[in-house]
Amino acid sequence: MEQALPGFRDFYPDSCAVRNHLLRNFCRVTRTFGFEEFDGPLLEPLDLFVEKSGEEIISQLFNFTDRGGRAVALRPELTPTLARMIAARASSLKRPIRWCNVGEHFRYERPQKGRLRAFWQMNADLLGEGGVSADAEIIALLVSVFRGVGLGADDFVIRISDRRLWLDFLAWIGLSGEQMPSFLEIIDRFEREGSRELKKKLAELSPNLGPELFAAINDLRQCRTLEDIQNAFGEQNLPRVGDWEKLLQLLDDLRLMPFIQIDLGIVRGLAYYTGFVFEAFERSGQGRALAGGGRYDDLLEKLHKTPLPACGFAIGDVTLGLLLQEKQLIPAYKAAPHVFVIFSDENRKAALSICQDLRDRGISLCYDLRGESSFSKQLKEAGRSGASFALFVGTDELTSGNFTLKNLSSGSMQTLTANELFGAFD
Ligand code: HAM
Repeated sequence: MEQALPGFRDFYPDSCAVRNHLLRNFCRVTRTFGFEEFDGPLLEPLDLFVEKSGEEIISQLFNFTDRGGRAVALRPELTPTLARMIAARASSLKRPIRWCNVGEHFRYERPQKGRLRAFWQMNADLLGEGGVSADAEIIALLVSVFRGVGLGADDFVIRISDRRLWLDFLAWIGLSGEQMPSFLEIIDRFEREGSRELKKKLAELSPNLGPELFAAINDLRQCRTLEDIQNAFGEQNLPRVGDWEKLLQLLDDLRLMPFIQIDLGIVRGLAYYTGFVFEAFERSGQGRALAGGGRYDDLLEKLHKTPLPACGFAIGDVTLGLLLQEKQLIPAYKAAPHVFVIFSDENRKAALSICQDLRDRGISLCYDLRGESSFSKQLKEAGRSGASFALFVGTDELTSGNFTLKNLSSGSMQTLTANELFGAFD
């Protein structure tokens, strides 16, 4: 039998319910932060990602040439599309712009635990505000989304770092602006790749600094407090520490410190980040990232000559789903109509008309589609369907106008007029 492609999923109703639980929670929580939902195309010009996303994602694109000869790619992330859409209307949009989206994304990665080739992301971005209060707001939203599905400070942590500090550091040790992106890429891989491999790469990039550079980078990666950071820079004046103090104060005011860890080991693989960056992980440190994001103040200007500060994040459905499963935080899956309507073939017309009235009032109901079964067979089917109530529409009920409603878990019966019936499920 044909199967789904590697890294792609068939969503049977129970797994679809799990995914939708995550997405609905995200939509609910983003509304409480004043975010509006938007969407963009799944298929985009290849150049959009080649210019904006950085080497790692480019090597993972699902791309092809369409029948019109255009080079296109399935979207691996949403941020370049968001940047294009915002830039096109930048002058007319009310600021700060708070936009969010839930949608499917595609990356040709090696399928493994927590990483697939088709996955859903929940994106939230705040544009038009360059101060740290926007970074704090976006981090607060991320925490609230996780808390919304029942996770607490014992379950996850948001590791916050700073691209700006890393760039200051690389400049301080004498690297040029052109050399920096390759160094940031190496630092981003420190956690995933062995140190021998990275020492070799650093030595290739900077033959005279090799071993000392490895030690200095490692020192900065280990920083967990502002004091550690200042010490790593020695006597060097570090104005950026002031921004860190403001950010941490705001996070403290929002009561978020139990969820936060300073961790300069995070650099982020995407090329466009310019300031604070962060990733969320399971508290134990196991597993791939639950979410990632940060500030990208230059992206809109680079792409569209529209300067606009921005920050945001995306949460993936795969790792978050795995964590909720492990913590037993997935709501029990129940697919059942509220009411099962029982009638005989001779009363079909009147019964179906009642069914229609009930459904128009938003009541979920099913009935036996074959239409020839006895009342007792239909009652058995009502039990199997998982419905809470059985409603009898027989000749007696239609003549008297009084309907019998049976509670299928307690067995109790109620007699109701048609009007009472329509109000019975409000
Ligand atoms: P990202 O770190 O590449 O950031 O992806 C965000 C999240 O998407 C990851 O933490 C992970 O949960 C999920 N994800 C990524 N790749 C896969 C995969 N192959 N399989 C399953 N899940 C995956 C971005 O995409 C940025 N555009 C986020 C952002 C928004 N930054 C600013 N605004």
